[in-house]
Amino acid sequence: MTILITGAAGRTSGYVIRTLLEGGTQPNVLCLFVRSEAAVEKLQAEYPQLPRCSFAIGDYLEPKSLSIAFQGVDIVFYNGPAFQSLETAMGIAAIEAAQRAAVKHFVYCSVLLPGLRKLSNHELKLGVEEYLAESGLNFTILQPTAYMQNFKVKDIVAKSVLAWGASTMIMKSFVDLQDLADIARLVILDPAPHNYDARYDVVGDRCSLEDVANTITCRAGLSGAVVCQQLLGVSADALQSDSALARLMI
Ligand SMILES: NC(=O)c1ccc[n+]([C@@H]2O[C@H](COP(=O)([O-])OP(=O)(O)OC[C@H]3O[C@@H](n4cnc5c(N)ncnc54)[C@H](OP(=O)(O)O)[C@@H]3O)[C@@H](O)[C@H]2O)c1
Repeated sequence: MTILITGAAGRTSGYVIRTLLEGGTQPNVLCLFVRSEAAVEKLQAEYPQLPRCSFAIGDYLEPKSLSIAFQGVDIVFYNGPAFQSLETAMGIAAIEAAQRAAVKHFVYCSVLLPGLRKLSNHELKLGVEEYLAESGLNFTILQPTAYMQNFKVKDIVAKSVLAWGASTMIMKSFVDLQDLADIARLVILDPAPHNYDARYDVVGDRCSLEDVANTITCRAGLSGAVVCQQLLGVSADALQSDSALARLMI
């Protein structure tokens, strides 16, 4: 079995790769799709057990590079980039490469509620999901809510401030990327029970930002409480952007 992980130098795929390797997956069954030689070097430094032949360099917008990378692959874990206007086209290109390579199972890491069209990064994933559903491939779609890792806890603790672009009382759920990676691993290693039409919400307990601030206060053992601040004038898209979130965590 050969498993291709796309966006391998990225955050989500990084959790999936580590979880597979630590769970006993042999390095020689992994193929990692990255964009540059620098990414290969970074990942080889992190995982010296991965030989150079485990890597394929390419771009979602270069179908030839996808065809080469997908050759001989059984299972694909596809995670698209954040906030790219061509995200739908990238996902479709990956699905078409999987069709050409007769991939046995395509795992698409999407987002919770892609039908929330006011958020462009949700709407862009809807097009990928639709194409995948009609592709004839065996597939599973993971739909994670916002990642807990979006919170820059060290900064929040240092400043005792958790800044947010919406009401801090809105109830929302967050998921630990490790939990998402554990679920992805289960599907990747045994895809048959998660075949066709399988689509999983990957969520956590609903809570408010005030709850998150209180949890950080308690767990960090702070004498003063972390204060939530609502920032004004932040767009819904910006709220979903990792880099924007990082900036918001003043
Ligand atoms: N943050 C959240 O709370 C959350 C929740 C649910 C879903 N999501 C979704 O998760 C995705 C982002 O995941 P992430 O945080 O793991 O992203 P990330 O760390 O930015 O990783 C994205 C990877 O995609 C690669 N990439 C970008 N453009 C590419 C292209 N044209 N061809 C090939 N590879 C390309 C990047 O390569 P380089 O390393 O070379 O840049 C990078 O390694 C987004 O689609 C987002 O909507 C996020």
